[in-house]
Amino acid sequence: MKKVLFALSAVFILNSCGEGKKKEESGFQMNRTKKETTLKKEKQEVPVDLNNKGIGPVKSVSLSDTLDADMVSLGEEIFEVKCTACHMPNQRMIGPALAGSLERRSPEWIMNMIMNPTEMIKKDPIAKALLKEYNNAIMLNQNVNQKDARALLEYIRSL
Ligand code: HEC
Repeated sequence: MKKVLFALSAVFILNSCGEGKKKEESGFQMNRTKKETTLKKEKQEVPVDLNNKGIGPVKSVSLSDTLDADMVSLGEEIFEVKCTACHMPNQRMIGPALAGSLERRSPEWIMNMIMNPTEMIKKDPIAKALLKEYNNAIMLNQNVNQKDARALLEYIRSL
């Protein structure tokens, strides 16, 4: 009798696990479809051009294979003070989510956008498209110097 009960409860547990998993899977699929649609929409409207270096003081940046931990933590501090009003690492807010930026933009473009947003959103083709995509929300000039912009870039790389 004990054995039968044990077998029955084992079947019950297995079943309920199975169901839980199914639910999770369908939830996951729903999320995924939604995310894919947003990505598609953004791809059509905002160009990806890794050769575009943007407009501003930064002409060339070389990135090492490893992250510079000091720069990452300085960048994170500045990010908290000057950027979190509009940006989050992984979620679209007033401005774009910044994780993965280097897959879409050159490092020079990112630093010029950080240091010179007002001119960028007027003249640069990617920034102009972003402005449209983000409902004409203006990225304000936060008076970031080149050293701090480089640290912010390193922080963005670490996300
Ligand atoms: C007042 C809101 C605001 C603040 C503050 C702000 N941004 Fe932005 N940012 C935006 C918006 C909005 C965009 C999209 C372009 C536009 O609409 O002007 C953008 C675009 C960007 C992009 C380009 C993203 C992409 O997908 O290519 C980067 C990089 C960026 N911001 C970094 C920063 C950093 C770093 C800071 C802090 C120093 C900062 N921003 C502060 C609103 C802001």
